[in-house]
Amino acid sequence: MVPLKPVNYLAPMIAFATALVFLSRFLEFPSLSSPLPTEASSSSPGSPLLSRAQDAFTDIKAAYARWDAEVGCNRFRDRHRHWASNVSAVQEACAGAECAAMAPAHVSVLVKGWTWIPDNLDSIYSCRCGLTCLWTKSPVLADKPDAMLYENIMPPARRRKGDPLRVYIDLEASRKPSGFEDIFIGYHADDDLQSTYAGALFHNNRNYHLSSYKHNDTLVYWSSSRCLSYRNKLAASLLSLIPHHSFGKCLNNVGGLDMALSFYPECINSNSEPHWWDHLHCAMSHYKFVLAIENTVTESYVTEKLYYALDAGTVPIYFGAPNVWDFVPPNSIVDGSKFKSLEELASYVKAVAGDPVAYAEFHAWRRCGVLGNYGRARAISLDTLPCRLCELVSRRRGREARTL
Ligand SMILES: *[C@@H]1O[C@H](CO)[C@@H](O)[C@H](O)[C@H]1NC(C)=O
Ligand SMILES: *[C@@H]1O[C@H](CO)[C@@H](O)[C@H](O)[C@H]1NC(C)=O
Repeated sequence: MVPLKPVNYLAPMIAFATALVFLSRFLEFPSLSSPLPTEASSSSPGSPLLSRAQDAFTDIKAAYARWDAEVGCNRFRDRHRHWASNVSAVQEACAGAECAAMAPAHVSVLVKGWTWIPDNLDSIYSCRCGLTCLWTKSPVLADKPDAMLYENIMPPARRRKGDPLRVYIDLEASRKPSGFEDIFIGYHADDDLQSTYAGALFHNNRNYHLSSYKHNDTLVYWSSSRCLSYRNKLAASLLSLIPHHSFGKCLNNVGGLDMALSFYPECINSNSEPHWWDHLHCAMSHYKFVLAIENTVTESYVTEKLYYALDAGTVPIYFGAPNVWDFVPPNSIVDGSKFKSLEELASYVKAVAGDPVAYAEFHAWRRCGVLGNYGRARAISLDTLPCRLCELVSRRRGREARTL
C-alpha cells in the first residue's frame, strides 16, 4: 500500500511498450539550439548565463540575494512577458460555472472501493454559485449519492434515470476509460475533467522542513525503486557524468536504502514511523537538482515526480512529456530532452550549479510570481477535484440526468 503515491502500481502494464518508443526518441537527441526555451541563454543584457566565472556556493538565500541585486523581478518579468504556453493543454478551473445551469444545489459524491484518493479529501465543500458538495468514502454519510466515483473497479454497466452518475478516474499515462462511465477524469485536457498532479494532496504527512544550504559537490538527487530498464539506462548514463546521490533501489550509491534520514536527521517526521514519501521533499532540498524521469513519455503526462522537486525548492532535470512547458512555470526546470547529448546536459547542469545568479534564476518564478500555465495546472489538481466534479454533476442534473 502506498497511500499517496498513485503512479507506481498500474504503470508496469504500459511501461514496456512506451519504453521502446521513448528509447528510440531519446537516442535521436532532438537538436534544438538552446537548452532554455527563453532568452535567458542568449547573450542579451542582464543574462546571467554563459558570462560568468564559476563561483561555488551552498547558501541558497545568499544566491537569491545576489540575483536580486544583479537581475531582479522586473527584468525577469520583462524577459518572460511573451511566455507563451498552450492554454488548451490545461482546462480552465472555472469553465462552465454558469450558475443558472446548476441544479441541484447540493451534490454528494461517494468514493467507491479501495483507492489511493486521500482520505482527507473527505469533507463538505462550499463551491461556486452556492453549490454545496459532500465528498466522502462513507456510504453512511452519503447514503443517496448523486454520483459514485470509481477507481480500480468497474462502474456498473447500466445506469437508469434516478441512479447516481457513474464517474471513473484514471490518472495513469494510459488514461483508459472503463467504457461504462458518465464522466471520465484523467490528466489530459480532452477528458471530461482534467486533474493534474500539481496538488498539495499528493504529499500528505510530508515533513515541511527545507534546507537553506545545498551541496556544492553532490549536485543531483535521484531516487527510484522501480528500475525500468530504459529509465535505469538513461539515469546511469547521465549520473555517471555528474556527482549525485541515488537513494532508491535503482543505482543506489549511498550505502543502502533508507539512508536519507541518517544523512538528514532534520527530515525525520517525529510523529510517524518513517516512510520515504514523508521525508522526500526535505531530503531533496539539500540538492541543487533532482533527476525526474517519467515512467513513460506521453503528452501532458506530467506527474508528481516533477512537482515534488518544485515544491521542495529544487530544480528538476526532466525527461517526460514533450509539452512539459505547458504545465510548469517559466525557467523552472531543465528539460533534458532538449540537449543534443547527455554530455552537453551534464556540463550545462554543472555550469548552472557553479553560478549562484544563474541558479537563483531557476527559482525566480516562485519569488516573483511568474507562473505561466503552472497557475492553471495547480488550480485543477486533485486538491480542487471535489468542487469541480460536484459542479459538473450538478450541471448534468445529478441523478436526474438522462441516460446516455
Ligand atoms: C564547496 O565544497 C568543498 C568540499 O567539497 C568545500 O571545501 C568548499 O568550501 C565549498 N565551497 C563553498 C562556497 O561552500
Ligand atoms: C495544445 O494542447 C492541446 C491539448 O493537449 C492539443 O490538442 C493541441 O494540439 C496543443 N496545441 C499546440 C499548438 O501544441
